[in-house]
Amino acid sequence: MARKSRETFDSRMGMLLAMAGSAIGLGNIWRFPYMLGKNGGAAFILVYILMLVVLCLPVMVSEYLIGRRGEANPFSSFDKLAPGSKWRWIGFLAVLASACILSFYCVVGGWSVKYLADSCAMAFSSGQADYAANFGAFISNPWKPLVYTIIFLALTGLIIVFGVRKGIERMSKVMITVLFVIIVLVVIRSLSLPGAIEGVRYMFVPDFSKVTADTCIAAMGQAFFSLSIGCGTILTYASYVSKEENILASSAWISFFDTMFAIIAGLAIIPAVYAIAYMNGVEPDVSAGPGLVFITLPGVFSQMPLGGVAAILFFLALLLAAITSAISLMEVVVAFIIEEMRRSRAKAVLICFMLCGGVGVFCSLSFGPLTGFRLFGLSVFDFFDYITSNIMLPVGGLLLTVFAGWRLKRANFLDELTNGGKLRIPRWLSLTIYYLVKLVAPLGILLIFLNTFFS
Ligand code: PHE
Repeated sequence: MARKSRETFDSRMGMLLAMAGSAIGLGNIWRFPYMLGKNGGAAFILVYILMLVVLCLPVMVSEYLIGRRGEANPFSSFDKLAPGSKWRWIGFLAVLASACILSFYCVVGGWSVKYLADSCAMAFSSGQADYAANFGAFISNPWKPLVYTIIFLALTGLIIVFGVRKGIERMSKVMITVLFVIIVLVVIRSLSLPGAIEGVRYMFVPDFSKVTADTCIAAMGQAFFSLSIGCGTILTYASYVSKEENILASSAWISFFDTMFAIIAGLAIIPAVYAIAYMNGVEPDVSAGPGLVFITLPGVFSQMPLGGVAAILFFLALLLAAITSAISLMEVVVAFIIEEMRRSRAKAVLICFMLCGGVGVFCSLSFGPLTGFRLFGLSVFDFFDYITSNIMLPVGGLLLTVFAGWRLKRANFLDELTNGGKLRIPRWLSLTIYYLVKLVAPLGILLIFLNTFFS
């Protein structure tokens, strides 16, 4: 076939940072701290880590393996590994899931653009302002959030147009490095506030009485979302990876980095919330849900010394994290359009922009003019958030492990894991991974899943 050879990542570091960039996102900075707040702090972290090792790592290894072996977008990768079978529709489901996530993700990405702009204009300087009302007024405005959503999506598209090396890899490298430096600075500021230690205690002293079946479901959904697994992003990025890479080491590294980052983001936020609450003589409220970052934090920044600078840094970090994740979501859809519909990269980006932007408009309006419009009892935004994190990602993950564990031959699986025997991975370790993929992960996901719907 006279097809141009596919692009690949330029270096191992670039590949790892691009994948970490996909994983580290709003899920870490915006979602993880409030999930932690709602689900009992440290106990949630422990359940989360358990889910990560037993269920998510096997899914990531499977996804990585299928992508690297298939060397194509999710649809074609499955088709190449199981020619002519129905499995390729799982690949299609993954593309669909990525498009659905991007459609609501770009709305929150837009909010972070707006809050960065506001913090640069020193809008969070009055301790008296009603930040909840301001946030409510902004997101329910019929057109303002739309403008920011479009700006966010356009920035994402602009990076993708430049391709894998010059766009995704180069930008991820820069952005993730800057992001890391910034978040460490914000953590230092947060931890040096008087009273911050109580927040640290909340994060690290577990209260097991808060662990219920719901905690497990919440932890699993959060882990899938945060690691970007189950919807073809790792698969698509892995299709640009060289055959020399160590699948297991890369997956472990990305999972570790993502989890560390979530905990660090928690340290940037929760201790600061505690410190300012004590200063005001009120009870700290870290269970504020999605409003934690956009309502509680501006109030916190407004009252702390050097808060103006901390606010700018924090919202810049939020935006960088969101963009590096959004590019990975868009790349899944774009790779599919390029390879299956034979369009140029630029056209594929445009199609994806219009498609996800179009749905994104409805997600955004569901906080304002479309509040009353419900899909299965949920607002459009909540509907997309719910069906992707709680259904599409776990189902995708389940099917990915079933494919890697049952449809691929064991010898092929082990061969891919050890790069044809070149890597010195102890036999017991590769077999453990194999059985985690084949038995433990699918059963575990299925159990938690059934429990969600029949309890
Ligand atoms: N992992 C990203 C985050 O934490 C979100 C994401 C989910 C990105 C699924 C790609 C795929 O924000």
